[in-house]
Amino acid sequence: MHRPDVSRALASFPLLDDVVALTTISLATRDLSRRVQLLTEGMSGLLGTRHEIPDGFFVPDPGRYRRHLLVDGGSAGYQVLLMTWGPGQGTDIHDHGGSWGVESVLHGALDITEYELQDEDGSCAELSVARRRRLEAGQSLGLLPPGDLHACRNASKRDVALSLHVYGEAVDQVRTFQSASHARYRVVQHNPVVA
Ligand SMILES: [Fe+2]
Repeated sequence: MHRPDVSRALASFPLLDDVVALTTISLATRDLSRRVQLLTEGMSGLLGTRHEIPDGFFVPDPGRYRRHLLVDGGSAGYQVLLMTWGPGQGTDIHDHGGSWGVESVLHGALDITEYELQDEDGSCAELSVARRRRLEAGQSLGLLPPGDLHACRNASKRDVALSLHVYGEAVDQVRTFQSASHARYRVVQHNPVVA
């Protein structure tokens, strides 16, 4: 397992070690649906106990939400990221490049909108809203392609939110969906780090 230098100073906290242990256990389950379910339930258990998060993660970037890559799983394949959301900051509608994932709120709350793909022809897609929900601290959301199109936004216009994301593979290419006209979206493929 490889933990990149950039986050090493921030990344030594007990909750992360517990998440790594839980993810390692879940990888023994080959059924991806069951794996995501196990991890989602396990995260709820971990986040239900008292945990400390290093202060550095609470510092937002005024320009956009911050991504801290904490664990790059190497041969195990998975990644763990912590996201810092400034007030009102959010994502475009996106997928995770074919990877399963579990997103958990550590602090504050995220508004999640899940979408269904109605039609797609190359660079254009038609989407409909499948579900809107508020994910509070301690709650997790499991994502499994192809039903994994979603957008996240800090529910607060005043406070920072933190979330922890486990991805089954190194997510270096994602699709985002940018509104073109009613229910129609332009599909863009790119690296999430430079999105
Ligand atoms: Fe996501």
